[in-house]
Amino acid sequence: DKPEDLETRAPIITVMGHVDHGKTSLLDYIRNANVIEGESGGITQHIGAYSVNVGDQKIAFLDTPGHEAFTAMRARGAQVTDLVIIVAAADDDVMPQTKEAISHAQAAGVPIIFAINKIDKPNANPDNVKTQLSQMNLLIEEWGGTIQSQDISAKTGQGVDELLEKVLLEAEVLELKANPNKNAVGTVVEAQLDKGRGYVTTILVQAGTLKVGDYILAGKHSGKVKAMFNDKGKKLKKAGPSTPVSILGLDGAPQAGDKFLVFDDEREAKQIATKR
Ligand code: GTP
Ligand code: NA
Ligand code: MG
Repeated sequence: DKPEDLETRAPIITVMGHVDHGKTSLLDYIRNANVIEGESGGITQHIGAYSVNVGDQKIAFLDTPGHEAFTAMRARGAQVTDLVIIVAAADDDVMPQTKEAISHAQAAGVPIIFAINKIDKPNANPDNVKTQLSQMNLLIEEWGGTIQSQDISAKTGQGVDELLEKVLLEAEVLELKANPNKNAVGTVVEAQLDKGRGYVTTILVQAGTLKVGDYILAGKHSGKVKAMFNDKGKKLKKAGPSTPVSILGLDGAPQAGDKFLVFDDEREAKQIATKR
């Protein structure tokens, strides 16, 4: 891509953290609080990825069981995440899976934003978490360091807007860009067989624009994109960079972390698929 072909794209976020520290609660809160008027609210069905509007900007979230998906994707060479939010409960210590999440993010070279959660609880002690982080050489901005951190409650929503502001600030520094004007490339988030609809594959478009009718190859599977939906179930004709979509039309279920690409020619895609 030539520099003049690149356009700003939305940041892609993974949420990680220790068991029960509030990852799902945070993702649910963000999703429900940012449902746009006219969209169906209170969506409870599980979706592997979604995006929200914050003001006039977008943020894409990978709503995956944190570590496994992140490491599985990384093991397949997929660099999907731009930023990691690590949720650490303020009524607990920095726990083993918190440390693991920190290691994963650092190994991937992905910036971390800490969400110190459950501050609504009477026994919450965010300073305890911050002290323990500082003892691991992770000094947050508030304490003179460089790492972003925000006290939040995923239950009441306190601090969540500020967290999203920090996400957008950090994303701005990263200058995330992609060329929307070419064949789409991206990564598979999850796939399953649906009784009526066949294989439903959730993918994240990372560059280019995916269109209905495109012939794609994803891991070992190929097919023509018969239909495409956003995370609210709305039918789309096309999807640009940093957009998560579910597609119909693949002849099997690729694995999380598999790359997908678009072929001009159906025969070429099939040939490559059979060699895999
Ligand atoms: P796993 O996916 O099992 O690792 O857990 P998780 O990190 O997704 O945590 P989850 O969101 O399921 O929250 C665990 C428990 O903590 C649930 O009972 C939540 O209701 C509760 N919880 C999460 N966030 C908050 C919060 O900000 N305040 C309070 N009071 N409770 C919370
Ligand atoms: Na839980
Ligand atoms: Mg969870």
